Amino acid sequence: MNKYTAIIPAAGIGARMQTSTPKQYVSINGKTMLEHTVNVFLNEPMIDQVIVVIHPEDKHFKSLHISSSPKLHTVIGGEERADSVLAGVAFADSELQSEWVLVHDAARPGLSNEALQRLIYELSNSSGGILATKCVDTVKQSSDETIDKTLNRQKIWLAQTPQMFRTSILLQALSDAKRNKLTITDEASAVEMQGIDVKLVEGEKSNFKVTTPEDLMLAEYYLSKEEKE
Ligand code: CTP
Ligand code: MG
Repeated sequence: MNKYTAIIPAAGIGARMQTSTPKQYVSINGKTMLEHTVNVFLNEPMIDQVIVVIHPEDKHFKSLHISSSPKLHTVIGGEERADSVLAGVAFADSELQSEWVLVHDAARPGLSNEALQRLIYELSNSSGGILATKCVDTVKQSSDETIDKTLNRQKIWLAQTPQMFRTSILLQALSDAKRNKLTITDEASAVEMQGIDVKLVEGEKSNFKVTTPEDLMLAEYYLSKEEKE
């Protein structure tokens, strides 16, 4: 039995990045974004297995060094991120008998081992939880570019990944959300819908999601800082 399995959804096309290769294969400081991300988990002794979810027509993954790691498995992803994650969770459950899964975006290469360990330690006696950062800006709610109301910033958290849950709980939550055709953009929202408590664990700025071209310079900055430390 495996205790902790990381699932890295990497089956997107990265439309907002506007590069010819999908953003997870863009090189940052000499390594692809996906390698930076997967290495965080391969280098963490508490993580037993790593599943990378790839696009059905992926042409890049096999040429990466990490593809031959004995801890590494690949699974084919689906149309939406939630479909890709569900494919990974089903594999972790049926093939790896993993007790916990940690879902982490390929597009977040700046996760530190400290934050990863903090998440694992703080959730050990729970159903699961996520890394998130407290909001520093004042938050406005609007549907038409005029303000409806100002939200209480003290109560706002910005969700990151990893999102870590007991495998059986996440499998059930994602399967139910899919059956009910609910749009979910992270794993926590599917688990919240089940009425199960999801814990918040302090994340970090470096773990932001690389989305648009200007984000690449910021990712370079954080990754070169990490290499020096
Ligand atoms: N992802 C996935 N399967 C999908 C869609 C997304 O595995 N069908 C993955 C992406 O590869 C990424 C993560 O989910 O690592 C977060 O998604 P996002 O940042 O939105 O990436 P993309 O969907 O690739 O980018 P975009 O939305 O700009 O097209
Ligand atoms: Mg997307």
